[in-house]
Amino acid sequence: MPYEDAQSPEWEPLLGAAWEAWGHAYAPYSRFKVGAALAFPGGRIVTGCNVENASYPVGLCAERGAISAAVAQGLRLPGPIALVVVTEAETLTPPCGACRQVLAEFSAELLILLANRRERVIHRLGDLLPYAFTGRHLGILD
Ligand code: THU
Repeated sequence: MPYEDAQSPEWEPLLGAAWEAWGHAYAPYSRFKVGAALAFPGGRIVTGCNVENASYPVGLCAERGAISAAVAQGLRLPGPIALVVVTEAETLTPPCGACRQVLAEFSAELLILLANRRERVIHRLGDLLPYAFTGRHLGILD
């Protein structure tokens, strides 16, 4: 299965795109730059970076930026199949709770590669956010 092994080559374009977005991160307050890259069926890649604000709570995470960009490009369903999140932090950076919820809206099966300059680990969104609240619970989506 594609994207099941952290070392397999299909991650490389996504990692490159995520690091490029990382370079654009606007994080003057936390100094914690994050890059994200989503892969869609067919190979399209959409990126995001964190964009902070002087009004701290208004800042946006890289993952939600990437999802917003993808939806604006008409990429919604079928949802993304893989996500890379990169930082230079010593400890790998997982998506925050809010981003997990937003990602679950579009892809329950998402494979997430967390990476820094020296290591990579794969997680499944379903493991990071089990029993997600979805449109199904509203009786709207299936
Ligand atoms: N951040 C992300 O962009 N993604 C994550 O997965 C974790 C946190 C951002 C939010 C804020 O700009 C900075 O990292 C520090 O929390």
